[in-house]
Amino acid sequence: MLKIKTIDLKDEIEALLIPVCEDAQIHDDPNLMRMIDAVGAFDEFKGKKGDRITLHSLPDCGVQRAVFMGLGEAQKVDAEALRSLAGKAVAGCIEKGLKTLDIAVPRSGRVGMEAAAVCEALLEGAFLGNHLFDRYRSEKKKAPLEAIALLSGADDLAPETVSAIPKRVSAVCGGALQAREWVSMPPNDKRPDAFAEDIVRRAGEKGVEAQVLDEQALEKENMGALMAVAAGSQAPPRLVVLDHNPEGAEETVVLVGKGVTFDSGGINLKSSEGLKNMKMDMAGAAAVAGTVIAAAGLPAVTRIVGVIPIVENMPSGAAYRPGDIVRGVTGKSIEIGNTDAEGRLILADAIAWAEKRYKPDFLIDLATLTGACVMALGEHIAGIFSPDDALADRIVASGENTFERCWRMPLPEDYRELLKSDLADISNMSSSRWGGAITAALFLSEFAKETRWAHIDIAGPAHRSKKSDYCGAGGTGFGVRLLCDFIERL
Ligand code: BES
Ligand code: ZN
Ligand code: ZN
Repeated sequence: MLKIKTIDLKDEIEALLIPVCEDAQIHDDPNLMRMIDAVGAFDEFKGKKGDRITLHSLPDCGVQRAVFMGLGEAQKVDAEALRSLAGKAVAGCIEKGLKTLDIAVPRSGRVGMEAAAVCEALLEGAFLGNHLFDRYRSEKKKAPLEAIALLSGADDLAPETVSAIPKRVSAVCGGALQAREWVSMPPNDKRPDAFAEDIVRRAGEKGVEAQVLDEQALEKENMGALMAVAAGSQAPPRLVVLDHNPEGAEETVVLVGKGVTFDSGGINLKSSEGLKNMKMDMAGAAAVAGTVIAAAGLPAVTRIVGVIPIVENMPSGAAYRPGDIVRGVTGKSIEIGNTDAEGRLILADAIAWAEKRYKPDFLIDLATLTGACVMALGEHIAGIFSPDDALADRIVASGENTFERCWRMPLPEDYRELLKSDLADISNMSSSRWGGAITAALFLSEFAKETRWAHIDIAGPAHRSKKSDYCGAGGTGFGVRLLCDFIERL
């Protein structure tokens, strides 16, 4: 589907995207330069961000449509600008019912980037933008493109790093698209048993080993906190373990993802407004599964274990109650202050269990954990919490590389007070209205005592109500590209 080849405008090309800067010539193919000079004569196209013009049936070449798109100032071009540009171009081609898009790659030096980084960003934006979630529509009005190719000058193509890019982008962004689909899927089609089975099936297709713990196995493993959350639903809980263990791996990274397939709040039932989109409360699980599946297609030699607790949080006569005291894997007693603070309960068991069983070098959990984190950082930035400065810095840096932004939040020792219970070792609910993302993270830290651990609260960026340049409305797949980047830089 993705290719990189040497540019030759004599080839038959259905649509050619030509990125143009307003203040510099960023191409050096003479035919291309001539075309850019020609459009420069039109007042409506100056190469500014957002400028776009399409010319048809150009003379002396095989190009049926040349789509010129503005990138703004050459020195300000970065990976995200290229992803956005490619994503928008793909959306335009899909809209017109085209089948293929070729992209003229700017000379990397002219935009102040490495050749590999330019190619990678363009392919990422194009691949991610070439996705439609139309499985539930009877009539499919649009279809994704069948092929996308980068056309580059021969010398920029030379390095080995460039030839590996299409495979890497398909693996990583394929994992992200899979995560998007899971998050967008309606909750009646992804109740815990069905979601677990789907993860196992998709993992199997990529050769990733998978294991599923059912309710009896979870009972045996003393996952009392997870079981308490699951009690209100007719669908029994599951815990999926995905294990990508390449030969020669020395380090182990455990990824834990919150998998609440629908969060009604339980007996502390959410409001109508609060219930909206609560099918997305398994986005952490989707990101973790997507990452392990992607990692299987990458050359990195690190063992990646995904530990994915999956429940549905429902009110019923069998549901857990506020006031209940439960015990999980660690044996610590937990008083239930609020049944809507369910994510931290299933994560507590999954984290403690994974720590004991795998003794990993790093443990990172992803969860749509708190509305408070969305209040603090808005809908497009995740909160990262870790007592480990080096680990936190690496995650923030990976987020900058992939534009899945993470902002570090504090874990103040004195706030632990707020989780005190009159009767039990800890409460799942803070005694303060404020700082809810922090107290949730502090709760988790009680169950990750022996490992270099970080928690990423993705409640904001896991889902979007409006489309962006390379992501439709719905699940975003947030975290997959970030975690792949983190793994590759270990
Ligand atoms: N799944 C929610 C958090 C959430 C809120 C995710 C909005 C995405 C968007 C979580 O389980 C929850 O309900 N958290 C409560 C915690 C409270 C009861 C301590 C919250 O944030 O209000
Ligand atoms: Zn909740
Ligand atoms: Zn939740």
